[in-house]
Formats: sequence, structure tokens, C-alpha cells
Amino acid sequence: MFPSDRPRRLRRTPALRRLVSETSVEPRHLVLPMFVREGATEPVEISSMPGVVQHTRDSLRKAAVEAVEAGVGGLMLFGVPEKHDPMGSGAVDPEGILNVALRDLASEVGDATVLMADLCLDEFTDHGHCGVLAENGTVDNDRTLQIYGEMAVAQAQSGAHVVAPSGMMDGQVGVIRESLDATGFADTSILAYSAKYASAFYGPFREAVDSQLKGDRATYQQDPANAREAIRETELDLAEGADMVMVKPAMSYLDVLSEVASISDVPVAAYQVSGEYAMIEAAVANGWLERERTVLESLTAIRRAGADIVLTYWAVQAARWLQGVRR
Ligand code: PBG
Repeated sequence: MFPSDRPRRLRRTPALRRLVSETSVEPRHLVLPMFVREGATEPVEISSMPGVVQHTRDSLRKAAVEAVEAGVGGLMLFGVPEKHDPMGSGAVDPEGILNVALRDLASEVGDATVLMADLCLDEFTDHGHCGVLAENGTVDNDRTLQIYGEMAVAQAQSGAHVVAPSGMMDGQVGVIRESLDATGFADTSILAYSAKYASAFYGPFREAVDSQLKGDRATYQQDPANAREAIRETELDLAEGADMVMVKPAMSYLDVLSEVASISDVPVAAYQVSGEYAMIEAAVANGWLERERTVLESLTAIRRAGADIVLTYWAVQAARWLQGVRR
């Protein structure tokens, strides 16, 4: 009798499928990226990311409480300052918007969730690059490292449980670790954006943070063509003391994610970025895709490829779906 192998037997009923399902997504796996805008009196909508806003300090606190109630695993905070300068000095200033908002969240939600801070200069510089510039206009790796070290301390002092260097400077994890250890923050963790690609999928994020960038980040972020290099970057970050590593973007880089997960001895995160969010939302708005099924499938795929943690703008929404809460 042919066929003798019948994989469909295990797909017959929802209960059978549930029993043999290999991958799950739970609210605790999801991290919500959030934006807070200095001086804002009302939340500001981000047109290319429908449903995502630049928060005021007040609306940020409220949204953080809602996220905690929905059971998300963590929050990743980005600051949108009023003023930019060549050194990105708002990043290290204890009164800079990101540090102020971290203190707000630390007092509002405390240890009820994991508070993470984006550690990068691009939101704060007037040229929009992730580091400071040398005389010749290139991004100066080693001078940037010193500033990252200070920025890490400012964020740890402000209550970040985790700092997340996203600037792709060589040596950033090592310098940040040293700087934290030297200032009494040996317990603050580092989530390293290890394999971060120079991706067109960050497009909507530039609006989200009022990016001043002209040009691209190809001299420091990775070439989308390269996979082997992602392993090298990850191994360096692990050797420098990364507590967790990340691959970014997610959906177009699942092969990279899978390889990184196979060599990492620390938890692996993947960032489902602004362009991934925008694509699905646009298709949903046109009636071309079903939101819940599409979003949950995308998150499941990212988990299946090896992510322990997924950063996603749908974190709260997805957490509610997963708990069967309809709002
Ligand atoms: C840099 C940073 C970027 C994103 C997160 N951190 C932008 C960039 O590297 O150009 C993109 C996130 C997204 O697109 O959702 N601090």
C-alpha cells in the first residue's frame, strides 16, 4: 500500500497539532521597542508605522504599565531629543531624554519587567551617524567607544537592567563591559547587536527617531550579502562579554539567525524591525493580509529559526492575542 508514510495523521485535529507543535511564542519572549520624545505634550504618530507613537514622558509610563500587564518580556527604550549636536552629547547627559525616561520607567515598573536601553549615538548626533566623526568625515571608531562607555554608565545609573549597543563599532562590547565594571555596575547586562545589517528595512525607524542621517551606515553595519561575517561578529562580542546577542533585521535574515543560534552559548535575540512592521501593516490596511495570523506566523518563524527573544512593535498586541484577550 502506497503511501505508507502519512505525516498528515498528526495534522488531523487541533489537539493533535497542538500536541506535536515544535515552537511556541509566549508573551515573555517578546520585547517592545518604545520611543520617547523630549518636550512632547501629546503622543506623536509615526505615519510609516501605524499604531506606533513617539511617547510623551507621561504616555510612556502608561504604555509601559500596559505592556507589563500584557506580560511582555521587556521594554527597549529609544530617545528622541529636541537638540542634536556633533558629539551626541544628549546621550551621556543624565538630563538627556533617554536617561530621564529610563528613570521614569524604573520608578513606574521597577523590576516587574526588563528595562533595556538603546546604546547608540545616532538619535543624538546632528549628522545622524552612530558615532562621532573624524576630521575626514568618517565615523571615528575609537573616540566613539569612549562615549559609549560613558553612555552605558549613564543608562545603568538611570535604572537600565540591560544596555543594548546598536552602533556596530569594533570593540564596543568590551569597552562598555569595562566601563560598567569600573563604576560599580558589574550586574548590568549587555545585549549586543552583534549581527546588524545595513538594511533598507530600517526606513520607517528613521521617521520614528527624527533621524538626521544623510547617506548610509555601510562602513559600520554589515553587508546584507554576508553570513560568515555574522559569526565573526558574534564570536567577538561573546569574547568581549556579551550577555545576550542579537541579529537584526529578523525576517530576511533567518538563515543568519539560525547560524548564530547554533554557535551562541548565551540567549539570542532577533529584532523584527520597523520595515517588517510597516510592510505587514500596509498589507493589512489594504485588506491583503490578516493581521493576527500574519503577525503570529512571523513571530513563530523567528522563534523557529532560533531566537529566544524577539523585539517587535507588536509585542503588546501579540501578547494579548496569545493570552486570548481581545481588545
Ligand atoms: C540605531 C538603530 C536603528 C534601529 C535600531 N537601532 C537604526 C539604524 O541602525 O539605522 C532600527 C530599528 C527599526 O528599524 O525598527 N540606533
